[in-house]
Amino acid sequence: MSDRVYIFDTTLRDGEQSPGCSMNLEEKLKMARKLDLLNVDIIEAGFPIASEGDFEAVRMVAAEVENCTIAGLARAHKLDIERAAEAVKGARKPRIHTFIATSDIHLEHKLRKSRAEVLKQSAEAVKIARDLCDDVEFSAEDATRSDIGYLVEVFEAAIEQGARTINIPDTVGYALPQEFGPFVNEIISRISNKEGVVFSCHCHNDLGLGVANSLAGVENGCRQVECTINGIGERAGNAALEEIVMALRTRKDRMPYHTEVVTEEIYPASRMLTNLTGAYVQANKAIVGKNAFAHEAGIHQDGMLKKAITYEIMTPQSVGIVSSTLVLGKHSGRHALHNKFEELGYALDKEELNRAYFFFTKLADQKKEVYDEDLIAIIQDGIKLIPDTWSLKYVHSAGGNQELSTAVVKLQRGEEIRTESAFGDGPVDACCKAIDALTGQSGRLLEYSVSSVSRGKDALGEAFVHVQFNDRTYTGKAASVDVIDASARAYLNAVNKAIHEQKRLKEEA
Ligand code: KIV
Ligand code: ZN
Repeated sequence: MSDRVYIFDTTLRDGEQSPGCSMNLEEKLKMARKLDLLNVDIIEAGFPIASEGDFEAVRMVAAEVENCTIAGLARAHKLDIERAAEAVKGARKPRIHTFIATSDIHLEHKLRKSRAEVLKQSAEAVKIARDLCDDVEFSAEDATRSDIGYLVEVFEAAIEQGARTINIPDTVGYALPQEFGPFVNEIISRISNKEGVVFSCHCHNDLGLGVANSLAGVENGCRQVECTINGIGERAGNAALEEIVMALRTRKDRMPYHTEVVTEEIYPASRMLTNLTGAYVQANKAIVGKNAFAHEAGIHQDGMLKKAITYEIMTPQSVGIVSSTLVLGKHSGRHALHNKFEELGYALDKEELNRAYFFFTKLADQKKEVYDEDLIAIIQDGIKLIPDTWSLKYVHSAGGNQELSTAVVKLQRGEEIRTESAFGDGPVDACCKAIDALTGQSGRLLEYSVSSVSRGKDALGEAFVHVQFNDRTYTGKAASVDVIDASARAYLNAVNKAIHEQKRLKEEA
């Protein structure tokens, strides 16, 4: 059996559908391009039947992404499968991923179907999918709580109809590695028609075992692993891509398998996802957390200075973490900035460089030391994926612990400039109210956070918001040395996304 493990990234499907991780079309496209650079093998771009937006996102990702296989998810229903086929058909390498639950718990309480009915439906679904697409994956939802003999029957029927990938999900994160490994092993060895089939695992993290189970799956014959960046996903999430890939790379001595992932793109991809969704990664998260490569204890620091291998099992550079060195001054030119961004892994076109330079000079005026992290925040903040309808010209806010806060906000739309003032429960609330009054929107701030990008009292503050307009939620983000400025611009970023979406929906109607 080959030692090559295919990485199936489901950040844009299983990840994106979890609370606080939603992305709009442009954001999904941006993330998909990054996943392509990361060189994952398969991108599951969405669930096309779920909504027009999902369909469009899968269609666009399929049309744009150059290297990866693009999969669309479909329940084992004709309409779902046809919709998925339509969405992925523009991809260079399209895949339909169809699934149905196989555990008695799901059959009895959710599907209300007999085992025989689900067996028949699985085979029919794969047949329909194969008539529309050469590459078909079949998943047995809740496989780990299914009867193994029945599961083997269902998988054999799916293979018989042409499924090339057979996925064994631990949908509810119930399995233990010492049981999941043998479970996978037994399924594979009992399947009689497995020639040419790739077995896959898809492990959720409810008991914190998603990655351990995935590795057990690989050791027992799975050659595709389904995972997400930062481990985002339903409930406690999916197995984290970065942990699986780096575990395989770092412990080759015990697990002689390899992926084709460009590991230096791991951290940039993680940062991008956080920036797009506002879903923070905990500081001690393996591989991509802020502290993952920080050595605090004196003994550790001493060891690191003598020889990094004393406390470092992989280098930060290997996952694309740049060292936080002092860079560029306020007299640095465009050329130096361009080179620095290249070094950080961002190839900017002329217009992007101009915008980045504009923000850089502003920042260099405000802040003594500009770090790599500041530059990354600039680039991710300053380069907008959609045009800004409104831009912030001025914000002033006053408050205190004894009085109601006030804000004065000036916004520009084209040639028009408008000013509004508002009261609020705190300066941020006052700013949001003034922005609502100016833009005619009415947002409900669901989540708000500010964190520092680099170090020092003058560090850039990065503000993230989740704002609900009508029944849709939008994320907004912005960075500034002034947290009120960052907060107001983050809120305005969400407002601009809502306006953009409202326009698009109007045009489509
Ligand atoms: O967790 C799960 O079972 C899934 C399937 C659709 C593969 O996400
Ligand atoms: Zn899942």
